Amino acid sequence: MTADAVAAIERGLAELGEAYRDAFATASSETALRDEYAKVLGKKQGSLTRVMALMRDVPAERRPDAGARVNAFKDQVEAAFTARLGELTSAARDAELGARPFDLTLPGRPPVGRGHLHPVLQTRDDLLTIFRDLGFEVVEGPEVEVEENNFTKLAFPPDHPATDMQDTFWVSVAGAPDDARVLLRTHTSNTQVRVMSTRTPPMAVVSAGSVYRRDDDVTHSPMFHQIEGFLVDEAVSMADLKGVLQAFAEGLYGPGTPIRFRPSYFPFVEPGAEVDIGCVFCSESDGTRATCRVCKTTGWVEVLGCGMIHPEVLKHCGIDPERYRGYAFGFGIERIAMLRYGIPSIKHLFENDPRFLAQF
Ligand code: PHE
Repeated sequence: MTADAVAAIERGLAELGEAYRDAFATASSETALRDEYAKVLGKKQGSLTRVMALMRDVPAERRPDAGARVNAFKDQVEAAFTARLGELTSAARDAELGARPFDLTLPGRPPVGRGHLHPVLQTRDDLLTIFRDLGFEVVEGPEVEVEENNFTKLAFPPDHPATDMQDTFWVSVAGAPDDARVLLRTHTSNTQVRVMSTRTPPMAVVSAGSVYRRDDDVTHSPMFHQIEGFLVDEAVSMADLKGVLQAFAEGLYGPGTPIRFRPSYFPFVEPGAEVDIGCVFCSESDGTRATCRVCKTTGWVEVLGCGMIHPEVLKHCGIDPERYRGYAFGFGIERIAMLRYGIPSIKHLFENDPRFLAQF
């Protein structure tokens, strides 16, 4: 059996022969070459590895000879592998060096379809800038609000239709007592209440944000955005309010834009008014007024509600109505954006169709 081991080694080496040389020479990549090498000298399955395993059975006195034979064979395989590996790496390097150079100075590709603010938010920012320039401070208020700040302190009577389930989204709060009256704010006037209840006059504040009502048609959406502005000080009159709203109209539509006040009712102001802005889409002189759909041929477009803050409201917020007066105004941002860009339906503003949004 021991003599057999030497014979088996001789036979194994003879069988292996020079086949590995062809295999190495035709391997066209480093990976292919390493695969071929593994077939010969892989730890378990290599054909030469298996022959070398037979050395275990060779008697001690014949080991030096047999070992030298096997090792010489192994050295030849390794030398052939190393030589071929060298050829392949230098060929790869030559290919890399000879390839068309990579120009690091080329400018990058500009990003396509870069986004921008939604038209409602662009309008919001422009409006806030107008008021900021007039000296108003910008404050944020919460969208989920208690009834007190949205209605009660603003002197809405408990049975006012706006407080109805049909008009307001009431919210149930887990773990809150059954009589906790929480809602999605129906207007940004809640921020007026919050600020007036925590500060002492003078103050001039604007606030913008989402509001919610159970409304849904071409000019109404259940969620929309408002801006609220108010000012409280010792000597404040309707004339101040008029001046600020005139500046707002001109900031929005240019110098000379006319505004007009119509008496109106909101529970938290007295007197209360609605303000119209002269239609910027038509004119009497060129005959376009007669067919204008925006102002419905009236020459005026209704944009906001306003008035002098009701003394009761000041009192509810801890402000002495004998000493202080204030004015407040509020309006929908979508409406301003629709007028500004000539958008016929509020739905376009909420469908998020990129073909529409890309136009702004
Ligand atoms: N909060 C009123 C609304 O949403 C608007 C308004 C604000 C009216 C301030 C008067 C004063 O309709």
